[in-house]
Amino acid sequence: MDVRIELAGVSKSFGGAVALREIDFAVNGGEVHALVGMNGAGKSTLVKILSGALVPDAGEVLIDGAGHGALTPRRARALGVSIVHQHRTLVPQLTVAENMLLGRLPRRAGAVDWRRAHAEAARALAALDVRVPTRAVAGELGPAQQTLVEIAREVATGGKVLVLDEPTASLGGADAATVHDLVRRLSSAGISIVYISHHLDEVLGLADRITVLRDGRRIVTAAGADLDLAGLVRAMTGERISHQRPRRDRAAGETVLEIDALASGARLAELTLTVRAHEVVAVLGPAGDGQSELFDLLSGRRRPSGGRIRVAGADVAAGDVGAALAAGLRCVTGDRLAHGLVPGLTVDENLDLTRRGLRRPWLVRWGRLHRQAAERRSRYGVATIQADPPVSALSGGNQQKVLLAKWLDAPVQACLLEEPTNGVDVAAKADIHQLVDGLADQGTAVLLASADVEEVLRLADRVVVVRAGRVVADLPVEGLSRDALVSLTVGGTAS
Ligand SMILES: Nc1ncnc2c1ncn2[C@@H]1O[C@H](COP(=O)(O)OP(=O)(O)OP(=O)(O)O)[C@@H](O)[C@H]1O
Ligand SMILES: [Mg+2]
Repeated sequence: MDVRIELAGVSKSFGGAVALREIDFAVNGGEVHALVGMNGAGKSTLVKILSGALVPDAGEVLIDGAGHGALTPRRARALGVSIVHQHRTLVPQLTVAENMLLGRLPRRAGAVDWRRAHAEAARALAALDVRVPTRAVAGELGPAQQTLVEIAREVATGGKVLVLDEPTASLGGADAATVHDLVRRLSSAGISIVYISHHLDEVLGLADRITVLRDGRRIVTAAGADLDLAGLVRAMTGERISHQRPRRDRAAGETVLEIDALASGARLAELTLTVRAHEVVAVLGPAGDGQSELFDLLSGRRRPSGGRIRVAGADVAAGDVGAALAAGLRCVTGDRLAHGLVPGLTVDENLDLTRRGLRRPWLVRWGRLHRQAAERRSRYGVATIQADPPVSALSGGNQQKVLLAKWLDAPVQACLLEEPTNGVDVAAKADIHQLVDGLADQGTAVLLASADVEEVLRLADRVVVVRAGRVVADLPVEGLSRDALVSLTVGGTAS
């Protein structure tokens, strides 16, 4: 088979710390080539080099056989290589057509030719069998649809090698399946896909070939059919990791978090639910059904139009971030770079922010700050190749660990966890699950929003189903099958 793009002997360091060591990596025409590895293994760094966003220190990139010493993103794109990042990049206020044709809207007599624009966008979407109206506003599409539009846009602008960096990280089963279907269609149309994911089942079901990275080295490249889950995990971790501990039963205590008739615009209509001490309650519902609204209201980022929130029997002032924090309520966002971490600060500074109770000191004692942060980093397993890098330079999974360490380290009464294992590797996922167990054991009331069914089964004691902004079912997890849970999530019933 013909090689489309190739890395030959590529190495890359950041400030003396090695992220990739002499990597050889090739992608054939029309293949789905999965790239897996633990958090910080070097996957994103590798694909940034493929797509020209980073220049390697040594080695070269070959596209259709021609060498490129200093590839730029523009050059890579012109040669048909493009990347769809994990964070979605559509402009939320613009329509699907505008997003698809951004910077190249067809014009006629000086003005944008909207009829042609919509027709062109519709044609590009239809060619890939993506069913999204071109007049829809991008920000109002579900996350899966946004991903499909982004992929279609790259193909429409001549993408022949598409890099998808964790395209299904925060998607539920049905949404993930639509992305998988599109990936299969692209590959049979001859487009090559480099597919990064921590969902190993998905990788095994989708990939023609799999490359495993560990600590910046390529460990193996093999046909997907020749690898199984255990072998993959062993290659990633270098050892056998013990299977996930089963969830354990705990008795719920007093009511801690009371959400009473909480309302907000069209998204939440009198949502009522309670979470008791030692209890983990998962909120289920079709993506976007009030979850992010709930996050904004509980964290005090937004004021509800009605209803109230009580923690340990006391009312929490509405729309006041300080009041929510003071009441012992912590909301850990699913969107870590937008709301959870301060990208301009280092890892240790981020960890220190919440320890100081968000007060601004006159004098920062750096020695002490780093010592205390070092202890938290090791407890949460935050791995960095440099001393104290900006948090934005960490790999995705390590950012997630900093986020949890930042918000959950001090005792909390109640917390809302949105996608707590978004983008983390298999080992870190088990650690985070234990961390959530630990919170519940200590008496924290935990509200969980997760699109990952296995995670809900593993962590939750109870599930509430939210539909059109209201709780329509409230039932114990005990005895729920995986299928019943999936059906509840997408809008069916448990039976
Ligand atoms: N701009 C940068 N400056 C300093 N270090 C960096 C930078 N970018 C990446 N790194 C480091 O390089 C290593 C590899 O990171 P990379 O993002 O490639 O990991 P990854 O395999 O994509 O992990 P994840 O699964 O968590 O996304 C990490 O230790 C990361 O902290
Ligand atoms: Mg990454």
